[in-house]
Amino acid sequence: MTGAPRMTLVPDADALARATADRFIASAALAVRSRGLFRVALAGGSTPARAYEIIAAAPPGAVPWKDTHVFWGDERPVPPDHPDSNYHMAVETLLSRVPVPEANVHRLHGEAQDLEAAAADYAVDLAYAFGVPTAEAPPRFDLVLLGMGPEGHTASLFPESPVLESRAWVAAPFVPALGMRRLTLTPWVINAAAGVLFAVGGTNKAGALTAVLGGARQPDRFPAQAIAPRDGRLEWIVEAELAKAAGVA
Ligand code: 6PG
Repeated sequence: MTGAPRMTLVPDADALARATADRFIASAALAVRSRGLFRVALAGGSTPARAYEIIAAAPPGAVPWKDTHVFWGDERPVPPDHPDSNYHMAVETLLSRVPVPEANVHRLHGEAQDLEAAAADYAVDLAYAFGVPTAEAPPRFDLVLLGMGPEGHTASLFPESPVLESRAWVAAPFVPALGMRRLTLTPWVINAAAGVLFAVGGTNKAGALTAVLGGARQPDRFPAQAIAPRDGRLEWIVEAELAKAAGVA
């Protein structure tokens, strides 16, 4: 990891959303200026929705959408128009409001009957989009947005996940706590990123945050601990009340 994880405290949920949007916009501008492309993996869940709305409302040109490729860190086993779909949430809050070319939107196919095949297909999509062979070094996202659940999961890497050490890029692990499979990028791919950003709020996550940031290293129990970019930046943007409750601020 390039340096220690950076922690940014924000006063409330709206400030969390604005800071996340700012990082997204800054990362996009830097990536396109440096390499002509911005490749980002979006987080699901509820926290990022407001940030996506703020990004969508940015002045025209703030995000170079024609050079931006959008991926997902994980997806639920539902169709793309299902209210639980991370893709659906991103379309509603962001992608339907900005001029991102359809070909630049790389959806995880949560509706697939065979989610393991869908995971393998997504790895091929990544290889093509990043111009890297699937058998070699993983694709290097410019930015991976992540949230964290109240028990320390991130993306769809849940406690005791069988894919925490996997060298696969995309997996479809069964999640006992949910009684279903999920599609997820693996830590192997996430940790190849140039930048990883956690955006976390809600004091219900204090116990997990204490364990993840202040406790012993046990990523099997707290998979968010498995996220440590090998040659990239890691930043946590955390609501101050949560950080205080977790004893990490
Ligand atoms: C998902 C997300 C998941 C999410 C956390 C936090 O598909 O649910 O990818 O990892 O980031 O569960 O969710 P909230 O933002 O809703 O608290």
